[in-house]
Amino acid sequence: MKGFTLWFTGLPCSGKSTLARKVEETLLERGVNVEVLDGDEVRENLSKGLGFSKEDRDTNIRRIGYVCKLLSRNGGVAVAAAISPYKAIRDEIREQHQRFVEVYVKAPIDVLKDRDVKGMYKRALAGEIKHFTGVSDPYEEPDKPEIIVETDKETVDESTHKIIRTLELMTYIPGVDAESEYSDEEEEKIKRRLKDLGYI
Ligand code: ADX
Repeated sequence: MKGFTLWFTGLPCSGKSTLARKVEETLLERGVNVEVLDGDEVRENLSKGLGFSKEDRDTNIRRIGYVCKLLSRNGGVAVAAAISPYKAIRDEIREQHQRFVEVYVKAPIDVLKDRDVKGMYKRALAGEIKHFTGVSDPYEEPDKPEIIVETDKETVDESTHKIIRTLELMTYIPGVDAESEYSDEEEEKIKRRLKDLGYI
């Protein structure tokens, strides 16, 4: 198997880390060599000391992208889960890759404010956190992500399955799910997207 990078992008609390870990689990069960680079975790080590200005975020994302490039060119699957709010930097990272799959983890901002697992939206809305993505800092949606998961409408398992199935149809991972239990309609949607993007 050739390596690739699976890049999750989306607003805070959209479900990037949860889905990244689920996909990791599924790939590990299949014997695939996988490593997750999670924004929160990276900021504790590789990006320690960086803040949330555009400049610092760009630096953080470039570092994550660089490590993903190294891992994926060695035959592994690099999974990145960071807000990565700026489109230009995500596209820059894509350009450095042979195989790059962008997953837009999408949910309406109101749902995310309610979800607020770490209580950060509340603090941001109260003005206690400046430049908080989605509240007082921008998030630029991807134009042409390979995958869109809608975490307010899908369960974690459904979104995970959509990601895994797309990777199979792209032939980036072996097709264990060849006999997919997915509905024809959902499968058609994935195929149409991949066709539009020129993958199949
Ligand atoms: S990124 O913009 O550089 O991609 P990253 O994903 O690494 O962000 O980190 C986001 C995490 O940092 C969030 O999960 C949240 O816990 C924390 N955080 C702290 N301040 C902010 C902020 N101003 N905006 C967004 N996230 C923040």
